[in-house]
Amino acid sequence: MMEGFRPADPGMNGQLIERLRTAITGEYNAIHCYEVLMNQARTDHERRRISEIRGDEMHHFQVFSSLYQQMTGETYQPQQTEACPNTYMEGLRHAIEDEQNTVDFYMETGDMATNEQIKSIFYRIAKDEQNHAVWFLYFYALSRR
Ligand SMILES: [Fe+2]
Ligand SMILES: [Fe+2]
Repeated sequence: MMEGFRPADPGMNGQLIERLRTAITGEYNAIHCYEVLMNQARTDHERRRISEIRGDEMHHFQVFSSLYQQMTGETYQPQQTEACPNTYMEGLRHAIEDEQNTVDFYMETGDMATNEQIKSIFYRIAKDEQNHAVWFLYFYALSRR
């Protein structure tokens, strides 16, 4: 366990660890469902962009997993908890909402955290998710023309 990552308040620590599990599971599901979405994409441009977004989620997954490891001394093994949407349009709608909800969740978690390093990890990743939401919204708008 890394000393620097142990907040003074143990109750806060527990909440943060619980939120980290949720974050790891969310990233894990996104990595899986964005592979499906990537294969449903209508153009190479959209496919490439979704592949890059999926790469970001893999990076987020690693950052959160390693933070979890540092805080608990344990590895968290998530399970696939959701079924991926069937069509490209449904997948985009789902992704837009999921990314937006994730921005809120990570911003709240950043606000809760007392450790500056942990705060900045959550704020930085929230920015990525906001950017993902905009891309998905753009693809959704293009698909509806
Ligand atoms: Fe992510
Ligand atoms: Fe994302």
